[in-house]
Amino acid sequence: MEIAVLASGNGSNFQAIIDASISGKIPNGNIKLLIVNNKEAYAIERAKKNNIPYYLIESNSKERAQFDLEILDRLKKNNIDLIVLAGFMRILSPIIIKEYRNKIINIHPSLLPLFPGAHAHRDAILAGATKSGCTVHFVDEGIDTGPIILQETVTITKEETEETLSKKILPLEHKIFPKAIDLLTSQKLKINEGKVTIEAD
Ligand code: GRF
Repeated sequence: MEIAVLASGNGSNFQAIIDASISGKIPNGNIKLLIVNNKEAYAIERAKKNNIPYYLIESNSKERAQFDLEILDRLKKNNIDLIVLAGFMRILSPIIIKEYRNKIINIHPSLLPLFPGAHAHRDAILAGATKSGCTVHFVDEGIDTGPIILQETVTITKEETEETLSKKILPLEHKIFPKAIDLLTSQKLKINEGKVTIEAD
């Protein structure tokens, strides 16, 4: 399957996917391109270092529909099968979701359905949660609401800050995201009534 990664920032998840791919852990997927919506995104440097073509599609001062049509056009021109949202800080509109139903996945730094949205670490700490984690899920029209693929858990301590929690969760994101991509590209995931089942080897 041809994969497009969409990112807005540092791209450490993008790097984890590149590394997994280089070491043969995603044998049925090919990282074909990176799309960024922010020219400062460090993910661009990672693409350059790894000879992965990247496209900057700026989202500032642009209607959402126009931005999404530009993304869709780029995906179609490159025969993309799977969209991977790796810290992509924009909500995709139904135009793309419909076209790529069950072919878009996202990583989110909480145990969904708890703490969706842009401030997951802060929200978990403020709620007094004693556990959090990360979730790879399919993307549907809601915000962080699609079927859950994989999760990992961490303990939240009394001294936890957004920064320490994020540092604790990130390595687990790097572990489950490439794994989910491998499962998906190897056709091992089935969705039934909004629930994902993973086929054994
Ligand atoms: C990660 O915490 C991810 O869960 C969230 O945005 C962050 C992106 O980090 N969606 P990076 O750009 O992959 O380093």
